[in-house]
Amino acid sequence: MESAEIRRRWLSFFEERGHTVVPSASLIADDPTLLLVPAGMVPFKPYFLGETKPPAPRITSVQKCVRTPDIEEVGKTTRHGTFFQMCGNFSFGDYFKEGAIKLAWELLTGSVADGGYGLDPERLWITVYQEDDEAERIWRDVIGVPAERIQRLGMGPNFWSMGVPGPCGPCSEINYDRGPEFGEEGGPAVNDERYVEIWNLVFMQYERGAGEGKEDFPILGDLPSKNIDTGLGLERLAMILQGVRNMYETDTLRVVMDKATELTGVRYGAAHGTDVSLRVVADHIRTSVMLIGDGVTPGNEGRGYVLRRIMRRAIRNMRLMGAGGPVVAELADVVITTMGEQYPELVTDRKRIEAVALAEEARFLKTLNAGTNVLDTAITETRSGGGRVLAGEKAFLLHDTWGFPIDLTLEIAAEQGLSVDEDGFRRLMKEQREKAKADARAKKTGHADLSAYREVADTAGATEFTGYLSTEGESTVVGLLVDGVPSPAASEGDEIEIVLDRTPFYAEGGGQLADQGRIRLHSGAVIEVRDVQQPVPGVSVHKGSVQVGEVTVGASAYAAIDVKRRRAIARAHSATHLTHQALRDALGPTAAQAGSENSPGRFRFDFGSPAAVPGSVLTDVEQRINEVLSGELEVQAEVMSLEDAKKQGAIAEFGEKYGERVRVVTIGDFSKELCGGTHVGNTAQLGLVKLLGESSIGSGVRRIEALVGADAYNFLAREHTVVAQLQELVKGRPEELPEKISGMLAKLKDAEKEIERFRAEKVLQAAAGLAAGAQDVRGVALVTGQVADGVSADDLRKLVLDVRGRIPGDRPAVVALFTVANGRPLTVIATNEAARERGLKAGDLVRTAAKTLGGGGGGKPDVAQGGGQNPDAVGEAVTAVERLVAGAS
Ligand code: SER
Repeated sequence: MESAEIRRRWLSFFEERGHTVVPSASLIADDPTLLLVPAGMVPFKPYFLGETKPPAPRITSVQKCVRTPDIEEVGKTTRHGTFFQMCGNFSFGDYFKEGAIKLAWELLTGSVADGGYGLDPERLWITVYQEDDEAERIWRDVIGVPAERIQRLGMGPNFWSMGVPGPCGPCSEINYDRGPEFGEEGGPAVNDERYVEIWNLVFMQYERGAGEGKEDFPILGDLPSKNIDTGLGLERLAMILQGVRNMYETDTLRVVMDKATELTGVRYGAAHGTDVSLRVVADHIRTSVMLIGDGVTPGNEGRGYVLRRIMRRAIRNMRLMGAGGPVVAELADVVITTMGEQYPELVTDRKRIEAVALAEEARFLKTLNAGTNVLDTAITETRSGGGRVLAGEKAFLLHDTWGFPIDLTLEIAAEQGLSVDEDGFRRLMKEQREKAKADARAKKTGHADLSAYREVADTAGATEFTGYLSTEGESTVVGLLVDGVPSPAASEGDEIEIVLDRTPFYAEGGGQLADQGRIRLHSGAVIEVRDVQQPVPGVSVHKGSVQVGEVTVGASAYAAIDVKRRRAIARAHSATHLTHQALRDALGPTAAQAGSENSPGRFRFDFGSPAAVPGSVLTDVEQRINEVLSGELEVQAEVMSLEDAKKQGAIAEFGEKYGERVRVVTIGDFSKELCGGTHVGNTAQLGLVKLLGESSIGSGVRRIEALVGADAYNFLAREHTVVAQLQELVKGRPEELPEKISGMLAKLKDAEKEIERFRAEKVLQAAAGLAAGAQDVRGVALVTGQVADGVSADDLRKLVLDVRGRIPGDRPAVVALFTVANGRPLTVIATNEAARERGLKAGDLVRTAAKTLGGGGGGKPDVAQGGGQNPDAVGEAVTAVERLVAGAS
């Protein structure tokens, strides 16, 4: 049975049994605790928690998922994949254990003719949570599974949660016995290769708190209702129904492996190593295509890094199998065609996906060339120092600067017989991540503990936003937190978070910053509002401080936003829409929005583009925006169904999840976008838009920064003043400035070179004198001492080599000269062959000298270089070298 048929049967089976079919959500999780969607239930988490009412009590879906913790296992076992599709049926307070178990059994064992999967019931083994008597009883007495094929297991395998605070519950897994050729008997409790898990039924009824691992966390209480969340691995069932030994040989992945064999000439089945590589390539390329399809672009953090790592592992495996040049386009093409049958947007988006993939491949091939040199040097250094372990700092540097994934460093180091200090590497990575997190925390509400907000939300309900039409109005205080804890009252000086039943304050969202302003209570209390966020969907939390008076829950209030700030933000937001459209017109639909920030008078706009946008295109885009805005176009917002919005061609943002009803913002006949933000009424209010420039913020993503209105004017006025000052200095018209200044710079450069040459000549002139003054230290000609200050390392080296060359080759010679440049001592030491035969190695001498100088250095036995911190120690360093030479002679 083909994968597409397995999927079709799943959805129709559950649809016929009263489930609403919901399409797969984007792989980009709309959940601050997750990077990517790892399970079918993720889009429904708010329904389990009771935060949002589900659209129907029974839902079914086939959800795209990505999991990477087991990435090292991919290709080695028969069933680990980074991308997979999870078929799920969900009940929100509707059927529970018995209903879920009966449905699962019926679908799995029902005959193929009747729409089932036709599995042999004798081959199915069940596991239940060790304390779940009820589930065991249902399997045994209601379904009739013999007791010996039901096993009880602990929390690890049979109690499911997302690994973070949220819904959880005991679960029961259905496993398929693949037969004795897959190992010993005894059921899933002893052999999970032979008895492979295909379907997990979670009896979702509790909410868990924070904790480590799969077992160590508190149960906070019951969920509002008893729910069902099940997940069947489509790829695993395909493996069984297609009679193949592993999931990589199923229909949708086999074709990718075939393409990889065609490109490399390697035969599948010929050797274990290349088989693993082929499977890694098939899995990883498919995952990459699916991620890029959902708007992820390769980068060094978060999702971008997951994608980068996966793509780079695939490319590296292709190279290990002998592929030399680019391979990704052809492999991705196969994935798009195959997966496109289920996900047609991949086919429509083929160009963009391939462009992003190709750009990453090109970057990686470049990285491989450059980074491999750095890594080779690090390996050689480690080896020559007698080490067997590559330092964590080196691995980190390779990762951070050269984009070398750690596994690549590990692999290459292992090929050279070295291990890597992975702990050190991870420590540095952790430090870096913590720093990034702290930066983010300093800016935003941490989403770590939402329970306090949820508590307020439960009593207060959703906030009515009045700010599209008014900037101030009456309301009531319905929730209050002091120091993150719900409180009945707050007083002067307190930092508080306050929830109103209705508010004109816009909460940060959709790239638009929050409003600021004041809330006055009728009792006389005043709250200065600095920020507004929605930590729980639909509930606006105003953050600020109590200036005077007492704030109490239930009090009547009057909320007023800072109108000037709001207007400046609105101008920026409307300008962002114009920029988005103008960019798309210039670059095509691949210039899709990847993020934005609209703040007072300025905005930044991130968009997909495989390469830098040329300056001339930016100028055209800016001109177009300014032409359009002076056309005095009306800006209108309308709420409509998502379907109508799509029909009208409204642009939606990647990875955003939209409800059934959406708000569409239209700017004349120029732009139409799904957007919840606040805008100007007419483009003439923008006055002026100035694009400041464009830069890269990750592979395939560019950022434009721009100013709007008075901020744009002030910027241009400042630039004008600078130009006037330059004109005065250079004595030329504005258009002559670039040429005149570049002429001056060229002259300056020539003059600097000339000075450099004179200085070098002067230094080198000293060579003859120095050679002639060589002292004889027990048969060794030793030239040492301090030359003029400010000599560059290069010049010093030239001088040292010149002096060495002037001493007859049969006489052992050591030349060790010192200088002080920019306040720091520097030394270059050279020895000739006769000296080296006496054991005098430049590298050793430099190490001693540099240590005396308070620094370090090294090099080869014939020439080495070093430096330090202490310029006053040069005399001492000279003596140290003399002593060494005397000792060895
Ligand atoms: N959430 C469960 C899982 O991922 C069942 O869907 O296994």
